Amino acid sequence: MKNKSSVYIRTFGCQMNERDSEFVTGILLEKGFCLADSPDKADVVIYNSCSVRKHAEDRMISNMGQLKKIKKDNPDIIMGIMGCTAEHRGKGLFNSLPHLDFVCGTGNIGTIPDIIKKIIKKREKELHVGKLSGHLPEANPRHRNDKRSAYVSISRGCNNYCTYCIVPYVRGNERSRRPDDIIKEVEDLLVRGYVNITLLGQNVNSYGKDLEGNINFVKLLRAMDALNGKKNIKFMTSHPKDASIELFETMGELKGISKHLHLPAQSGSDKILLNMNRRYDSKYYLSKIKHFRKIVPDHMLTTDVIVGFPGETEKDFEATKSLLKQVRFNAAYIFKYSPRPPAPSSKMEDDVPREVKEKRHRELLVLQKSISKNKRILYD
Ligand code: 5AD
Ligand code: SF4
Repeated sequence: MKNKSSVYIRTFGCQMNERDSEFVTGILLEKGFCLADSPDKADVVIYNSCSVRKHAEDRMISNMGQLKKIKKDNPDIIMGIMGCTAEHRGKGLFNSLPHLDFVCGTGNIGTIPDIIKKIIKKREKELHVGKLSGHLPEANPRHRNDKRSAYVSISRGCNNYCTYCIVPYVRGNERSRRPDDIIKEVEDLLVRGYVNITLLGQNVNSYGKDLEGNINFVKLLRAMDALNGKKNIKFMTSHPKDASIELFETMGELKGISKHLHLPAQSGSDKILLNMNRRYDSKYYLSKIKHFRKIVPDHMLTTDVIVGFPGETEKDFEATKSLLKQVRFNAAYIFKYSPRPPAPSSKMEDDVPREVKEKRHRELLVLQKSISKNKRILYD
């Protein structure tokens, strides 16, 4: 390998993936790599993949497929897929993408520098998946993509098993990072002048349940708020069943904590919520919102919604519309249902036709747009 090898990383999917790509970039920079600004100029190309919806997975695979020509012109280039689709599809990706050199699942990303080394030495394909439990990589490379805003991951995986969701299968069960490591990371960022810090976890409100000692999410927020320096600490995602009154009171009280709550509703229909295994009904959700609004007056409220879940009738869809109208979120992210085996809903008949999903999707976008237009966005 040349003195300074270059890496190009492209990210598909959520903030968690953004952070993972940044982490891998950081550890490679510390190993002496530099950054390439396009795949054809790189020695190593890595696509960080998302598998939450099939469309995202297909798009990544098709994009990686297009890199075949680069590999043909430059057989020494190393190409890999990391993240959720790597975990989900594993070895099968080598069949669909024969020019691929490595597949690295979500729990193995800390070993990417070693994987690259091995490939250079042996020129064999490397498959590293299946590490979905145990300790999280605690390396804390200095590299950050942005100068003022930073993501800090506080936990990985999820125990909720919403029936439509592939996350527990590709990121494993929930594992919280140790509070001291998190606080140290945030403290370092504040010293470096970072103001906007977003704490990431699939279900931040259940942070610490798997740790020994007397720690929970509210305590973690309090410890962060007490750190020196100007700060705006945001967090996502919250699950309605775990977002507590105590959390709202803490958000209302502490100056350094953002007043933005992202609280995915997913549906307004109790039947659909039950079949999604969300473990709340619309009445419970609305009462949470009512409490939040009362306790945190100058807030911002956003949500996620899925349309076209199996069995969703016009009446169920009307209930979702009604929920959006009642709550008047600042913003809503609206998704068309996509069956994701092995998530359990993939065994239910995907009986809402594509055109109906699309129509409902469009309808909710228009509805939410008219609501958002009339709302003052208080925090970004
Ligand atoms: N189909 C459509 N949307 C999904 N989401 C998760 N799984 C699916 C799926 N199978 C959405 C949910 C979640 C967001 C991150 O992605 O709304 O909150
Ligand atoms: Fe998926 Fe539900 Fe966990 Fe969110 S809470 S990651 S939707 S299983």
